[in-house]
Parts: sequence; structure tokens; C-alpha cells
Amino acid sequence: MKRVDDFRLKFGKKELVPIMIGGMGVDISTAELALEAARLGGIGHISDALIHDVSDRRFDTEFVKGKTKFYKANINNSDKSIIQFDLGHLAEATRLHVGRTMEAKRGDGMVFVNIMEKLTMNAARETLQVRLNSALDAGVDGITLSAGLHLGSFGLMADHPRFRDAKLGIIVSSVRALQLFLRKTARLDRLPDFVVIEGPLAGGHLGFGMDWAQYDLATIVAEIAAYLKAEQLDIPLIAAGGIFTGSDATAFLEHGAAAVQVATRFTVANECGLPAKVKQEYFKASEEDIIVNTISPTGYPMRMLRNTPAIGSGIRPNCEAYGYLLDGNGNCAYITAYNQQIALHPDGKNISVMDKTCLCTHMRNYNCWTCGSLTYRLKDTTRKAADGSYQTLSAEHIFKDYQFSVDNQILLPA
Ligand SMILES: Cc1cc2nc3c(=O)[nH]c(=O)nc-3n(C[C@H](O)[C@H](O)[C@H](O)COP(=O)(O)O)c2cc1C
Repeated sequence: MKRVDDFRLKFGKKELVPIMIGGMGVDISTAELALEAARLGGIGHISDALIHDVSDRRFDTEFVKGKTKFYKANINNSDKSIIQFDLGHLAEATRLHVGRTMEAKRGDGMVFVNIMEKLTMNAARETLQVRLNSALDAGVDGITLSAGLHLGSFGLMADHPRFRDAKLGIIVSSVRALQLFLRKTARLDRLPDFVVIEGPLAGGHLGFGMDWAQYDLATIVAEIAAYLKAEQLDIPLIAAGGIFTGSDATAFLEHGAAAVQVATRFTVANECGLPAKVKQEYFKASEEDIIVNTISPTGYPMRMLRNTPAIGSGIRPNCEAYGYLLDGNGNCAYITAYNQQIALHPDGKNISVMDKTCLCTHMRNYNCWTCGSLTYRLKDTTRKAADGSYQTLSAEHIFKDYQFSVDNQILLPA
């Protein structure tokens, strides 16, 4: 009987354990978590979501404080169009977060950065260009482009000296999205080094509509594999979403995937950035507690726990401090939803906004408990103490369980 360790992900001559821990912003997939994956011979992701805040927390910089102070006079203004990110600060924060992580890397694996294109930062093209090129400057092994695939992204880093040597990949949820991307980038003569295929059971934002339940990861992987074969393109495919055991992973590897991307199992790792009490919420969740809704201002459905504190929160939009979802005209769907409520309740007290949420603030404060569809099975991966709390696990334990387990077994911690 085969297990994950019988397979290797090949990038040229380099061989890796075919396990990639997916990016989880904001700093849920920490540097510590990504570095463990690399140490163990796989691939880990950090994320550049709210990079200024991550830098402030990790390196005592004061980017968020400085920006908030600069735009202080605008805090009570419902028009957020004047808010801009300082591109120099963006580059510096990226170089710090990515650079320090890369300096700490040990082992044969790799560390990639997850860059979500929906973070349009009120100047989508300029900020994305800085994010991509600064990550390459800082020596990142690879970049995974996700959430909102901007068809011109490869072009934004085409002049970088590392453009052809860093591993560049994209996340798609359909063969059509991949076709569009390949068509658009054909003139650069630069294929993606890998394609993550994210199915409907993943955590975070979904690349499907609210009809997500009609789709199936294995079918999409087969469609994309057939398309690439017909086009005679050899690009490693990485399956993601709902791969919970080593046996689940092995099944994808046996059917043409070059690796798997996993995340949910690692949300309860000691190295994961979620606060300890939130990890317990993930452990406690039952199947009915996991919902998909449309409160993300990005327009993508998002999966989360039903008791997520962000749902219904009516906080004032915090774009002077963050503003990562501003669309270039100073708009964000949360600002619109919030202003509608303010019009109904002009005193601004006890406002509840149900339609959308202030995603920047709530992800930053770990109050938006996004999760994968199999989160309810996390309780079966560990031990429960007499006081009712669940034991968190080391990333190494979870990684090795994926790598070596057979027969759908899950190894409990010692
Ligand atoms: C808590 C959490 C946060 C996530 N955040 C992101 C993100 O910021 N960017 C992204 O591309 N994917 C994100 N994802 C998706 C994962 O990277 C991964 O592709 C997916 O969850 C894999 O499925 P699994 O969780 O069932 O293993 C997130 C997933 C989780 C569970």
C-alpha cells in the first residue's frame, strides 16, 4: 500500500516531499509554521496579507501607527479615496517579513509566499508590482498567486532578475481560469512552475459561487490534467481542499497530482498563528458549525465557523490603519454596507452589519474564523484533557502523519 512518502514533487533536479502547507493570512501560516515544512523537506507558505501589521508585530516597526496618524483627519469621513499606501514602506515591510524568514530557513524544503491579488490596496497594479518584486528581492523560493488571479501578474515581475529562477505558481479552481492565465502570459514565454487546484472544500475564500457544493476536486484535477496533456504542457498539479489524511493525499498522488496543498490540519499546530482559544474553537466545531457565507467584501464566498465574532459586527471601517481591500476608487463593499446602516441609525450606536464584514480588522484580530470544511474532524486528530480542552500538536507531528500514514489512519500525539 502506497503512502505519501513514496512520491516526490520534482522541480528540475530538486526533489521535495509532496506536501505543501497552504498560505493562511493574516499570519495564521506564520514563518515558524512555514519553516517547519521546509525543514521537513516540503513546502511552507507565509502570506503577505496585512504585511505592515505583520512586520510591526514581528519586528517592532510602526508602519500601521504611522499610516493611521497620517490619515487621522479622515477617520470620520465615509469617503476613503484619499488613502494610499506608501510604496517604500510596502517594499520595506515585505523585505523584512520575507527576508528574515528566508534567513532562518533550514533543511531541503522551500518557503513560498502567498500573494492574494484581491488585496487591491487602492492602487492594485502599483502595489502588486511592489509586493511581487520585493518578495523576489528578499530571496523567497517561490510565489503563489491567489484570490482574484490578475492575468497580468507575471508581467509585473518579468524584469526581475529572479523571474525565471524563482518558483512561480497560481491557484485556480477551474480549467477555464488556467486557460485564461496561460493565454494571457504566453507572450512572456514563462509557464507557471506549478498550479494549485483548489476545490470547494478549502478554507479561506472559495473560487466558486454559492453553488460550490456541486463541484468536486478530483473531477477538476482530472479535467486540468487532461487539458495539459492535450496541450503537451508539463506543469506539476497540486491538489488542495479537504485532503485530511495521508491516504486522501496518496489517492491524489496516484491519480496524477504532483503534490497536495493542505491547511486545515495545521490550524491547530503549535506553530500556527491563531490564538490558543481560537484553536480550541476549531477543535470543538461540529459539522453544522461550518458555514459558507458572503460577508467577505471581496465578493468571494468564504467558509468560516458559525460563531465567528466578525459576523454582524458593526465596527467603523478601519481603512486609515489598513485599507487593503480598497478597490482603487476608495470603495470597499464593507464601507457601503456600513454606511447604509449609519443612514438608518444616525447615532451610530449598536450598529450591526450583517451583509459584509470589515475583513482587514477582523482577520488582523483573529476574529474571522475561516476554516476548511473538515475542521469538525480536528478533534479526532488529538487528545482531550480532563478539563475539556484539546491538545495542540506540533507541525512536525501533523506533517509526518500526512507523510507516512496509511489506511486513513491518523496518529494521535504521545
Ligand atoms: C484558516 C485558513 C486561512 C486561509 N487563508 C488563505 C489565504 O490567505 N490565501 C489563500 O490563498 N488561501 C488561504 N486558505 C486556503 C489554504 O491555503 C488551502 O489551499 C486550503 O485550505 C486547503 O484545504 P484544507 O484546509 O482542507 O487542507 C486558508 C485556509 C485556512 C484553513
